[in-house]
Amino acid sequence: MTSARCSFCGKTRTQVNHLVHGPAGASICDECARLAVDIAGEAGPEVQGGDLLLEDVGRLVTNDRRAADLVGVIEGAAVAVREGRVTWVGPASELPGRYRELPALACGGRTVIPGFVDPHTHLVFAGERSEELGRRLRGESYEDILAAGGGIQSTVAATRAAGPDRLLAESIERAGRMLAAGTTTVEIKSGYGLEPLSELHMLEVAHTISETLPLDVVTTFLGAHVVPLDYRDDRDGYLWLLESEMLPACAPLATYVDVFCDRGAFTVDEARRVLAAGRRRGLRPRLHANQLGDTGGVELAVEVGAVSADHVEHVSAAQAAALAEAGTVAVLLPAASLSLRGRRAPARMLWDEGVTVALATDCNPGTAYVERMPFAVALAAFELGLTAEEALWAATRGGALALEASDKGWIRPGAPADLVVLDTDTYLDLVYRPDLDHTWKVVKDGAVVIG
Ligand code: NIG
Ligand code: FE
Repeated sequence: MTSARCSFCGKTRTQVNHLVHGPAGASICDECARLAVDIAGEAGPEVQGGDLLLEDVGRLVTNDRRAADLVGVIEGAAVAVREGRVTWVGPASELPGRYRELPALACGGRTVIPGFVDPHTHLVFAGERSEELGRRLRGESYEDILAAGGGIQSTVAATRAAGPDRLLAESIERAGRMLAAGTTTVEIKSGYGLEPLSELHMLEVAHTISETLPLDVVTTFLGAHVVPLDYRDDRDGYLWLLESEMLPACAPLATYVDVFCDRGAFTVDEARRVLAAGRRRGLRPRLHANQLGDTGGVELAVEVGAVSADHVEHVSAAQAAALAEAGTVAVLLPAASLSLRGRRAPARMLWDEGVTVALATDCNPGTAYVERMPFAVALAAFELGLTAEEALWAATRGGALALEASDKGWIRPGAPADLVVLDTDTYLDLVYRPDLDHTWKVVKDGAVVIG
């Protein structure tokens, strides 16, 4: 049995923000998780792969396209998990007897979905920018604020000033809330340091989060987020610093390289140079493309065979067809469009052109201080025109494909047992009742870690 109290400070579930359960029955609150990081350095609590039988699942969303519908729903289902991996999925009436001795989680007719995979976040940052939002709501533009040295530049200043310990303390709280809302894998970018040591600290914090919480983290080097103020008159000098010092230091801690290729950030030629330098260091490319305008980002993503083109609010049917042909995933960030009162990505068109569509929070302090994937799902349905099933698929399987994690984002034998039990009998409630927290339990690698 897992404890309803933090095993370290004794506070109950109602006295803390989040209680994370380990497989051996110990629980830790987010406050103590942070202390554990301070005390034990990188050695936080570990969740080992678990054995589990999810019984009495009212509706199971498998995302297994072998089933008739897009999200592969099985009614009256069971899921067997051994050593953290799904071993059997199907109607409960067909469950083989050998799985009945597994530790059972009675789901009481609730809905089970794959854990959310959030493939685009700027989760690691210090400070906040509510004042900037106030200014934007009074009519100032995001681009003007950035050009005047605010926006991303103000988060760079706050992040550099914070140092790694405060950066970790602020960021791990957000990560804990993401996990509590059902995210089991998250991509985290650097990009608010923009100098070698601060960029390195951001990536180290991202890794510490994954070592501390039962949350898989994929890291991306975004040293080319904007040209920092100290290099404003020397763009080439900044690119030289990025290639000669930042990349060598950061590449060992990252999987991907990303560039904000748009107005007020980096040109197509600059972005091409950074992506090539990243590739020489073993980092695969992804791109912030066509958020603020049709600025050539999509064409560059196709040219370099980027794993994903993110934002793509300004994209034509011909560009979409090229993305589909290149196998580049379109990562849509509806919370950023909402906050910017900006153009919405043409999700329906992208989907119909055959592009693989993923959804992400874009968690960042400027355009989307959003942590919960269910919020992105609801926005994708209401604002981008996807069906509930498409939005849910994009937030789970689509996210996994955007991170090249082909074994994630679905529930079928061999997949890691990363699941969310929703406290409802229909996944439609994620959209129908978008303001409620529907998460009942979160299962990571077969262990109940939330709830
Ligand atoms: O994905 N577009 C560029 N980067 C972020 C916003 C960063 C910020 O404003 O701090 C994004 O929306
Ligand atoms: Fe972004």
